[in-house]
Amino acid sequence: MDQHFTEEVRNSVSIVQVISEYVTLKRAGKDFSALCPFHSEKTPSFYVSESKKIFKCFGCGVSGDVFKFLEMIEGLSFPEAIKALAQKAGLPLPQRTQNPSQAREKERLYSVMEQAARFYQRQLEETAEPVQEYLRERGVHAEAMARFGLGWAPRAGNELLKFLRRQGFEESEIDLCGLLKSPGPGSFHDRFRGRVMVPILDLTGRVIALGGRVFGEGIPKYLNSPETPIYSKGSCLFGLHLSKEQIRQKDFAILVEGYFDLMVPHLNGVRNVVASLGTSLTPNQVRLLGRYTRNVVVNYDPDLAGSAAARRSIDLFLQEGFRVNVLSLPNGLDPDAFIRREGAEAYLERLKRSSAYIDFLLDSAIQGERAAASPKGKVNVLNQLLPYVALLPNRIERSETVGRLAERLNLDSSLILAELRKVAVERKKDAKIAITLSQEVTRTEQRLVKLLVESKEARGEALPQLQDDDYRGLTTEPIFRVLRDFYGSNREITFLNLQDALSDPQQKELLSDLVLTSSCDPEPNRAEALHCVTALKRLSLEQTRKELQTRIAEAEKSLQAEEVDRLYKRKLEITRQLQLLS
Ligand code: CTP
Ligand code: MN
Repeated sequence: MDQHFTEEVRNSVSIVQVISEYVTLKRAGKDFSALCPFHSEKTPSFYVSESKKIFKCFGCGVSGDVFKFLEMIEGLSFPEAIKALAQKAGLPLPQRTQNPSQAREKERLYSVMEQAARFYQRQLEETAEPVQEYLRERGVHAEAMARFGLGWAPRAGNELLKFLRRQGFEESEIDLCGLLKSPGPGSFHDRFRGRVMVPILDLTGRVIALGGRVFGEGIPKYLNSPETPIYSKGSCLFGLHLSKEQIRQKDFAILVEGYFDLMVPHLNGVRNVVASLGTSLTPNQVRLLGRYTRNVVVNYDPDLAGSAAARRSIDLFLQEGFRVNVLSLPNGLDPDAFIRREGAEAYLERLKRSSAYIDFLLDSAIQGERAAASPKGKVNVLNQLLPYVALLPNRIERSETVGRLAERLNLDSSLILAELRKVAVERKKDAKIAITLSQEVTRTEQRLVKLLVESKEARGEALPQLQDDDYRGLTTEPIFRVLRDFYGSNREITFLNLQDALSDPQQKELLSDLVLTSSCDPEPNRAEALHCVTALKRLSLEQTRKELQTRIAEAEKSLQAEEVDRLYKRKLEITRQLQLLS
């Protein structure tokens, strides 16, 4: 479809009118709002703007123009959405942008690919018993070889080229299909040699590309068709042609990495599978799958690369409004190996227990954090997770997730909720909470605040000993003041009560930082609280002694004997107090 026509259609329809055929829109200022049709919610966070010609849901994050809306709600492709709206607007479709000779050329390329795949298939059937044996060993029997159209590319240099030439195809056409390699100008040989061939089909069942696995050991293990006029890797999913009906019926898809990870489950009755073929998933692939379902279980290899790829795929799926689960199979097995070893039943069992993406992200964040038990580590893990928690559309799910996070990280739920609120206000997936400890706060202050907030015993022991002088001038002074006020007036001390009592937002923040970041320390105990108070007192006394020393030096310089004497006595007093403390 050409750009101008797309623009014209977009401008000729009212996005508000189109969307109002699916959801009940209410005016909200200049815009319209509604309950989002792409996730479940009780209060409207779905907005439509006529002037900007877009829709956006602040709950689940989906957004786009009128075409995107139709694609999502009706499961249409982009061209289909344009056609539907053009019709509605009474605009005649432009003549095919492809001229007839281009169309004919493409048809030729499809035939080349078809013939090539057939050639490879015959080679497998007729000449390659050891390769058949290899496939059988991998659980792919003769009937299955036919079902997937598997083949064999002979080792000799240009068997395919010779065959296709005999069929009347030009070298240039065969080359356009990516089936040849050219070691020098004008000289060609077959790209695929000595490989097990897997055809990649489009949604209508035409061969558009091929993948070749080395027979035995060798590098690269897989060799695939390059991009060609009829093959765009990022817009196609291996196996979708075979799986789409099952995916629609089951209303979920299993996304795997490899050719065999698709074929082996398929042959064992698990047929709602598609493969991304080891490349990183693209938005186009996600949208393609989105025509059949909005539920996916990502089952990549359980190695580092696989789990990184799974993490990236989660973002893409969420952006397209999918519900995402992740399955990591045990013992480093991919779906192919797992099913051959444990069977399809065991696989389905695992599938049922696949984790919600948030748990997967939590696990992998914890694994990726070298010091996940340290305060800093926990903060890092939380930072990675909270934006995703904030994206969860439903409140019950959100609070359950917070509960799980709290448990796994050994943190207080109310603290996580407080942080979550900050993230939620920004409503952005990439929003980061910044938990930073002020440099001036000593370890002692941090620990003491935490102990006093969390432990009644610690309060009973330490607060009566604490005096204004002990924390005067410290960053934490207002927090200690409020703590002592509460204690003195018998008010209940909880994190949230204290937060309310602190007027300065920076102090509120500091309080949650202090309590949050130090929480993996040992259980609070009374002795430690006293110890902290003593340490605070010592710090404060030492500070005073230093100041006195400076003033004494000044007084001596200016020969104020009496003043020197007075200051000296005070310094002695301080020194005595310090001695008492140790
Ligand atoms: N892949 C690729 N090129 C490579 C390696 C991998 O295109 N050099 C793609 C293939 O589609 C492959 C998938 O990535 O199926 C997963 O790769 P990997 O896990 O390495 O291979 P397996 O599929 O497990 O291969 P096999 O089971 O045949 O050993
Ligand atoms: Mn494998």
